[in-house]
Amino acid sequence: MGLKNMSLILGFLGFVFLQGLLVCTAYNVHHYSFIVKNTFFERLCSNKTMLTVNDSFPGPTIHVRKGDRAYINVHNEASYGVTIHWHGVKQPRNPWSDGPENITQCPIKPGKNFTYEVIFSDEEGTLWWHAHSDWTRATVHGAIVILPEANTTYPFPKPAAEQVLILGEWFKGDVKEIIDNATATGGDPTLSDAYTINGQPGFPNNCSNDTSYKLTVEYGKTYLLRLVNAVMNEEMFFGIAKHNFTVVAHDGAYIKPVTTSYIMITPGQTMDILLTANQSPSQYYIAATPFFDSNAPFDSTNTSAILQYTGNYTLPSSIPYPTLPNVTDKDAADNFTIRIRSLANAEHPINVPKNITTRIFIAVSVNQILCANASCGGPSGNRLAASLNNVSFVTPSIDVLQAYYRNLTGVFGSNFPSQPPYIFNFTGDVGNNTLYPSQGTKARLINYGEAVEIVFQGTNVGNAENHPMHLHGFSFYLVGTGYGNFNLTSSPSTYNLNDPPEVNTIGVPKNGWATIRFFANNPGVWFMHCHLERHASWGMDTVLIVKNGTTAETSILPPPTNLPTCS
Ligand code: C2O
Ligand code: CU
Repeated sequence: MGLKNMSLILGFLGFVFLQGLLVCTAYNVHHYSFIVKNTFFERLCSNKTMLTVNDSFPGPTIHVRKGDRAYINVHNEASYGVTIHWHGVKQPRNPWSDGPENITQCPIKPGKNFTYEVIFSDEEGTLWWHAHSDWTRATVHGAIVILPEANTTYPFPKPAAEQVLILGEWFKGDVKEIIDNATATGGDPTLSDAYTINGQPGFPNNCSNDTSYKLTVEYGKTYLLRLVNAVMNEEMFFGIAKHNFTVVAHDGAYIKPVTTSYIMITPGQTMDILLTANQSPSQYYIAATPFFDSNAPFDSTNTSAILQYTGNYTLPSSIPYPTLPNVTDKDAADNFTIRIRSLANAEHPINVPKNITTRIFIAVSVNQILCANASCGGPSGNRLAASLNNVSFVTPSIDVLQAYYRNLTGVFGSNFPSQPPYIFNFTGDVGNNTLYPSQGTKARLINYGEAVEIVFQGTNVGNAENHPMHLHGFSFYLVGTGYGNFNLTSSPSTYNLNDPPEVNTIGVPKNGWATIRFFANNPGVWFMHCHLERHASWGMDTVLIVKNGTTAETSILPPPTNLPTCS
């Protein structure tokens, strides 16, 4: 229930005027209605009301084909403002419907609604949507399934059936209170109490055995699992007892098939997985456990669902549970991640920038901010913070997009630095180097069409950790990663420019670096941040503004008329 898909899937022909030419494009238009409201839930023998879309957790799945358009009317029945983001959807020229609060729009106020125009282009596979205001995404999220265009097929045999699997994180407390409280004290937010698979914690969590999510399969058939990591603060290992499986797509793009017994998936990422039911008909646990390689506190629990074969069989006395890598096993995480390569064939070509025209080097740090009389709840009475190039991002009160579009001054600065303020041994003994960041709302302007390379350098400042960096408005190529300090000569020699994965979220290794490349061919205002919610809240964010090109088709679309107002 919950899903009100008033799909007008009529084989709609959209007529678009492009520079006076009437162009006829065949794409389908879909209409959805999302009611954001409080709903009663019981988990772990404890109950609460929490924000959902259409009363469901996870929320409704959006189904489209490649290149379609979806109009999603979001009614806010919550008591505070919300926005929704379509994670991984590039939204060509249309930052107005991208969603991050006070970056591309002001929140939809209680009692109001806003219709997002979600423009799909070359994405194919699985993406997801989530609230993008404070921590509301914990409970307000769902999958986006993007099927191949009509008359085209998957680059693999058609599966017998498909199923979305969403990894989530369950907090017994009210998530808004948790983050508001952490922001007030400057300390670490209260940890979650469980992880979930399709909304259920499952074995071995308290009061969860009987409500585990169950995936039913028939012996001999192959299924497509669309896995989303909607967890707030931890990367996850995932596996299915006694079954290997094959990852075929990642972040809405096809990859060369990777057959494995486990995966590591960061918050923000999605993976499409083929699972063949080829073991003795029985039940097997599907499980997810955290991958967390820092000293910061984290939720160390496991979540599981059950893979159940159809037919008659006697259940074993104990259902097999997958053996997943240890929580700090970064070799296991890397050994999976390095296998991911773009499919990069004739039907699914890639276009990796080779001649870079804009280079940005970003040091990624967890920091502290001094508080008067050491009165804050973080280490040494300081406030926990985070930064990119030593700037801890401050969210403005009017959205950056509007300020940029209307030339409003005093909302953001266009001086986000292309290098860190000091060069030091980023991944070694950093002492107090850059422990205390500056604070500001700084964006980086980029000319239309530039071939951009960003090197993310993880640092040992504050607390070293793997950071899942995410960029809105684009997918990009992850051309290289490594440990230690990025080296201008030796690091680029390791780049993969032939078939690098095309993604929207990448793990910057703990005390290591990651290099991404993309063409700045999408004019707009695009948020870039760590997808660990703690870090994003602490300021590990910035904004890339891609300027208009010289023609109408290379410029930002005009704003919709019903944008939420900012006061
Ligand atoms: Cu999924 Cu700005 O995020
Ligand atoms: Cu981070």
